[in-house]
Amino acid sequence: MPKSLISIHDFSKEEMLHILDVASEMEKNKSQKILDGKVVACLFFEPSTRTRLSFETAANRLGARVIGFSDVDNTSISKGESLKDTIKMVSNYVDIIIMRHPLEGAARYASEVSNLPVVNAGDGANQHPSQTLLDMYSIRQSQGRLDGLTINMVGDLKYGRTVHSLLQAMSHFDPSFVFTAPAELQMPVEYKQFLDERGIAYRETTSLNEHLNDCDILYMTRVQQERFSDPMEYEKVKDVYRLEASMLGGVRSNMKILHPLPRINEIALDVDDTPYAYYFKQAENGMYVRMAIIACLLGYR
Ligand code: CP
Repeated sequence: MPKSLISIHDFSKEEMLHILDVASEMEKNKSQKILDGKVVACLFFEPSTRTRLSFETAANRLGARVIGFSDVDNTSISKGESLKDTIKMVSNYVDIIIMRHPLEGAARYASEVSNLPVVNAGDGANQHPSQTLLDMYSIRQSQGRLDGLTINMVGDLKYGRTVHSLLQAMSHFDPSFVFTAPAELQMPVEYKQFLDERGIAYRETTSLNEHLNDCDILYMTRVQQERFSDPMEYEKVKDVYRLEASMLGGVRSNMKILHPLPRINEIALDVDDTPYAYYFKQAENGMYVRMAIIACLLGYR
């Protein structure tokens, strides 16, 4: 097991599957005090609801205590303290660091500065590997397998870090992909090259309806307003797709809708009551997967 979870690329297929298996064990036994006496730091330099609260809950359910911040204005970073000094200081206080930061590469840098395990809870538009593992867990749980699935990724495929990481992780499991995005938010060329090099098929469309009925997983995403430098560009694409219950009449019976959340307008509320909605269960699964990540990185599984 690598020391830290920075990029999903750092984990082999077997290591990813091990975390999913431990998460399954955590789901069956939601409170196990195996980390009594340990302290977990949650350093959130960017807003978060699910990731921060599920990591904190995961640590608490394992018997660890949690310190950290979710607002840098209340820290000495607001006085000009560097990321390096912040990480070195916190490393003296805790056993593992979980961090979200707006800069790509910030978590990798922290893992080089610190002798502790570091978990990347999202670095800019780059990676969000704990989200990837909970997405994989939710896919396996809802489909009974990871192999041979068709995954339709919808929305902001340019800036959405979750789709980039998920594509790379699922490449181990003989998938095929559909990329549904407007011209402005297409899957970046490097990820398509990644698939080409591995002989993995993908189709691209701008129409949400075109491949709704021939996928196993519909992975909806939010248009990432915070990554746009030009607000007018965001206005043009912000409401490009809206999934409604009335559109789901012909989908596969096993099809499940995932979304990393938060959603804005891309999934109508009436979808929540269909048997295809899986995004709230997916968010719950985040807690079990994050219990597994903390336990595995601290050597307890
Ligand atoms: N999915 C996700 O990362 O949600 P938060 O931004 O609320 O943590």
